Amino acid sequence: MISNTFSPDRQKEEQRKILITNRYISMASYLTERGIQAGIHYDPSFVHNFRIGALQLNGLHPDKMEVISKASMRNKLEYAAQLGANEHIRIVRDRGAVLISFSLPQYLWEAVPINSIGHSRLLNQTIGWTVKRKPIRVNFKKPLETHALIAGSTGSGKTNMMMVLAYGLCTYNETSDVRIVIIDIEKKGQDWHKFKDADHLLSPIATTLEEARTSLRIVNSELNKRISQNYNVPEIFVFVDELAEIMEDTFSQNIIGRIAQMGRSYGIHLALGTQRVVKRILSHPNLENNVTLRLCGKVNSANEAFLATKVAQTGADKLTGGSGEFILKTSQELVHIAAPLVTETDLATLPKGQSPVIIPESHKAKAPSVTYDASAIEPELLSRILTAKQAPTRSDFIRHFRVGQSRARYLLAYRTEFLKKLREQGYEITPIA
Ligand SMILES: Nc1ncnc2c1ncn2[C@@H]1O[C@H](COP(=O)(O)OP(=O)(O)OP(=O)(O)O)[C@@H](O)[C@H]1O
Ligand SMILES: [Mg+2]
Repeated sequence: MISNTFSPDRQKEEQRKILITNRYISMASYLTERGIQAGIHYDPSFVHNFRIGALQLNGLHPDKMEVISKASMRNKLEYAAQLGANEHIRIVRDRGAVLISFSLPQYLWEAVPINSIGHSRLLNQTIGWTVKRKPIRVNFKKPLETHALIAGSTGSGKTNMMMVLAYGLCTYNETSDVRIVIIDIEKKGQDWHKFKDADHLLSPIATTLEEARTSLRIVNSELNKRISQNYNVPEIFVFVDELAEIMEDTFSQNIIGRIAQMGRSYGIHLALGTQRVVKRILSHPNLENNVTLRLCGKVNSANEAFLATKVAQTGADKLTGGSGEFILKTSQELVHIAAPLVTETDLATLPKGQSPVIIPESHKAKAPSVTYDASAIEPELLSRILTAKQAPTRSDFIRHFRVGQSRARYLLAYRTEFLKKLREQGYEITPIA
């Protein structure tokens, strides 16, 4: 499901094919020598993952499957396929088959831009591909997939993965359906700067502990309001890029814990990135039990992989595909996936119309007042919306002015506000004809 906007590098594609085929042949002949030959399957589409290669063993007797799954067999297959000292294979059960996957060497990687992976819908977000190049989706509407943890050592692609989610949520949802909060103290929001003016932001990107506390306070009072009035929209996603630091702060820790525990019923979600995969942070009881969607990039040890996914032997410590390769644990499956890359060009298309930031009543005093900026509207549009006899409807905007939903809402709000101010001062615009 990679659209035409992305065309792989021909040479690399050819090289990937050769490497994967060679590994397939070596492993298949080793297994055959050992009397394990049932249905060793090589699907040419496996070469299209850009990060990961695979082969599948079908129709194996359960005893043979068990033999294959042993660590000693893994070692032997790694030798047979002539893998480097730092390269590993993962062997996992896959609905009656056994799937052997391995990270491709760096020179064969290709970054696939996110705008070529096809659309996401509502809270059902496409976040990458499996080794079989099936698009993989997560659905934050599912009760067991409300919150996500994105773990991995430095450079494993956590921030990018969080941006894959944030990009999809903002691109495919109205601000009335989804709002986001971004907290990035460690890197002062530098990787997130393109989200600075995103319509969907509920509060400005928090880059200090004080700002993080303000953002969390806003979400917390919204949660309280939702609990007392029993509603759950818009869905709010709180992105925390580097959890460790924020968890040192008791105030923030309490709110995050509370969202983890209560957010599910009230449309408030967490996406927590963490480079430090340590018990002290991850075994916070509310997080451990409620943050069930897990994405684990390359980590340093089997113990870290376990802490990050809560599943033994996922092989996340053996990933060598570098940034963008993850083990995903959902309520139903455990899969090896590769993620698309969110580029500056992708982010340039984020809906931005300087729509009013919605801040709960209790925080209004501290919030900046909402201003509608005429210079942000094309002159032709400006004159048409102001001189129209009747207030254009949102679908008028979309049909005649070719703007999106959130831009239409901004323009309408601008028109209302502007005409009101004029009227207050005793002026009226007379529509032409
Ligand atoms: N899916 C991907 N495809 C291609 N390149 C990627 C992908 N994900 C990340 N990268 C590249 O790897 C680099 C590191 O990624 P990223 O910043 O997301 O890592 P990180 O885990 O957040 O690192 P840190 O812990 O240092 O913050 C990025 O600059 C990006 O260019
Ligand atoms: Mg990062």
